[in-house]
Amino acid sequence: MVTPPEASNLLEVRGLTVCYDTAMLLNNVSLSVGRGELVGLVGPNGAGKTTLLRTVAGLVRWEKQSKQGTRAGNITIAGEVRFDGERIDSLPPHVIARRGLVLCPERRRPFTELTVADNLMAGAYLQKDRRALRETLDMVHQMFPVLKQRARQISGTLSGGEQQMLAIGRALMTRPRLLCVDEPSTGLSPLVKKELFAKISEINRRGITVLLVEQDTALTLSVCARSYVLSHSRIVASGARQDLLADQTVHRSYLGLQSP
Ligand SMILES: Nc1ncnc2c1ncn2[C@@H]1O[C@H](COP(=O)(O)OP(=O)(O)OP(=O)(O)O)[C@@H](O)[C@H]1O
Ligand SMILES: [Mg+2]
Repeated sequence: MVTPPEASNLLEVRGLTVCYDTAMLLNNVSLSVGRGELVGLVGPNGAGKTTLLRTVAGLVRWEKQSKQGTRAGNITIAGEVRFDGERIDSLPPHVIARRGLVLCPERRRPFTELTVADNLMAGAYLQKDRRALRETLDMVHQMFPVLKQRARQISGTLSGGEQQMLAIGRALMTRPRLLCVDEPSTGLSPLVKKELFAKISEINRRGITVLLVEQDTALTLSVCARSYVLSHSRIVASGARQDLLADQTVHRSYLGLQSP
């Protein structure tokens, strides 16, 4: 029997399988993110984490369609993605983004020649209501005071941590309902990393649902109420930090953490 989707879930992924030619990048992946949750997705290099986010955001289907009729590789996608109870797996990326599912991509640097302020305004291109725009900008400035202090600075001259904060700030300017952040901590020092994760927790406490993709397993498990472990294209474990750490096989084989 097919179980109905959970009404409390903002995102529900079921049986998602993605192949590029004969390579299976996602193998029957199912996961859910409840309204108001901060959920982690961890796993080693090449596990399929970015592919999962890109598929959910409609980018893999878009890539498949734009390759049709060329000699480029054949992409096949199967499974279901629901956002706020509705199927979104055949919608184009801009429609998915407009519904509030927003991706802050991996290693994405802001428009480096623009000022910090212009970069934030570029994130708000869909917002026509000036008052709402002002409120959102105030919220982003409250969260990331450095973006206010450096409003006129050219973005390319920000530090790595500041650029990552700008990338998240720009995503917040779209007023997302689900913010998917792909490996925000890459290349940051341990101290800046910790600060960034505290900001991500704060974004969630302010009511935004977050799906956080990371390789830093220890930090991710410590801030997320629940996490999924993706390895070799499959979900191999899921649960709260203590459940994942209590499972010796998961602990040793997938998390690469020291025993608690
Ligand atoms: N466009 C593509 N064409 C072919 N193979 C791809 C494509 N994109 C990704 N892959 C392959 O799919 C696998 C999963 O990649 P993906 O980027 O999803 O992993 P990841 O978990 O995000 O890794 P990382 O932690 O290094 O970012 C990798 O083996 C990668 O080489
Ligand atoms: Mg990745």
